[in-house]
Amino acid sequence: MARLIINGRTQEIDVDPNTPLLWVIREQVGLTGTKYGCGIAQCGACTVHIDGVATRSCSFPVSGAEGKQITTIEGLAANGMLHKVQQAWLDHDVPQCGYCQSGMIMAVAALLKEKPKPSDADIDAAITNICRCGTYQQVRAAIHAAASA
Ligand code: FES
Ligand code: FES
Repeated sequence: MARLIINGRTQEIDVDPNTPLLWVIREQVGLTGTKYGCGIAQCGACTVHIDGVATRSCSFPVSGAEGKQITTIEGLAANGMLHKVQQAWLDHDVPQCGYCQSGMIMAVAALLKEKPKPSDADIDAAITNICRCGTYQQVRAAIHAAASA
């Protein structure tokens, strides 16, 4: 049994402690905004926040997340307002197919919390998420817009 706090809600989940957090979020909890891409911590599609830190949930055991604050894309907006990264994504029409974008947005939200005005080099170092649609230029423009918002 794992006791998880997801988007502020505590839930008891009957699961093997070694199960990747991603499976629990999607299959048991039913939050499907977090995506499965590679399953080996390479693509970033599965990125969530654990105590505010961007984490690739496909390769993170559920036991490591117990008692910590887990935030998924569904919990990023607060008080009916989009997070500034989500708003910048809309304003810049960033998504193409959209599959990678929730992970991308979560990674960027964590970056801006740590570095409110990231340089291009900071962005390149921190945002290693893979986008098969090639939205990288729009991502960078939207990050700078969110940093100035
Ligand atoms: S699915 Fe987790 S990093 Fe690709
Ligand atoms: S928007 Fe299609 S994979 Fe990134």
